[in-house]
This record gives sequence, C-alpha cells and structure tokens, in this order.
Amino acid sequence: MERFTISLSDELAADFDQWIEARGYSNRSEAIRDLLRREIEAKRLDQEQTLYSVATFSFIYNHHERNLAERVTSHQHQAHDLVVSSMHVHLDHNDCLETLFLRGMTQQIRAFAEKLAAETGVRHSALNLIPVKIAGLHYAQHAHFHPHS
Ligand code: NI
Repeated sequence: MERFTISLSDELAADFDQWIEARGYSNRSEAIRDLLRREIEAKRLDQEQTLYSVATFSFIYNHHERNLAERVTSHQHQAHDLVVSSMHVHLDHNDCLETLFLRGMTQQIRAFAEKLAAETGVRHSALNLIPVKIAGLHYAQHAHFHPHS
C-alpha cells in the first residue's frame, strides 16, 4: 500500500467533498481510487479497442496573447492529415472559441489534442472521441490515415 498527500485549493477540495457526498463515498481515499481506476481503465480500453475515431476538439484562447493564434494554426497545419475542418467563433474582443473536426488514428488524435491543450493560453479544452470500429479497415487503406507527409 502506497500513501501520498494531495494538495488541493480550498475551492476544489470543497467541490470534491460535495461530489463525494452526492455519490455516497465513505471517504476521500475510496473516491480517489475509483476516479483513478475509471480514468486508467478508460484510457487502456480506448487504446486497445478503438484504433480509429472521428472527433471534435474544442477550446478557448485569447487571440491577443503573444503568438498564440499563430501557434494554434501551426499545430493544425502540422496535423493536416487529422484536421478535417475547423470552426472559429470570435466570442468577444479577446476570446476565441475554436472547434476542430478530426478523423484518424485514435492515439494520434489524442496526442494532437493533448499537445494543443498544453499550449500556454489554451483553456477549457474538451475532446469528444467517437470510435469507428467497423469502418476501421476501410479507413486504414484511405489516404487520410497515411503517416504524415
Ligand atoms: Ni477569433
């Protein structure tokens, strides 16, 4: 048995305690164990079973932030095999909402989304993966899914 201490902001800790109470957990450790198991298992299943996916990836960024708009665009050009289309909404004077429509190998989509999400200034990112098991063999032969050229 390993023990470790987790530091949370007061706000996150309060939210977590509410979440625990709503689900009837007896203590924080059990809740954390379940969260970890669920996340790890989901990732494992995704990687093993869903080779190909279609996906949407949404995020918000401030286009005034230094070079950020260029970096966001550059990431997409580097992954042009994955990015089918994109939609950009100017939310206000500062913030932009962008949604990308992706198609390709699940692991490549995940890696691309994680890279964009990690870009400084990219906020509220969310990836919605939809596995396409049946069409996998067809897609495997399709030019869109060849390695990046
Ligand atoms: Ni904009």
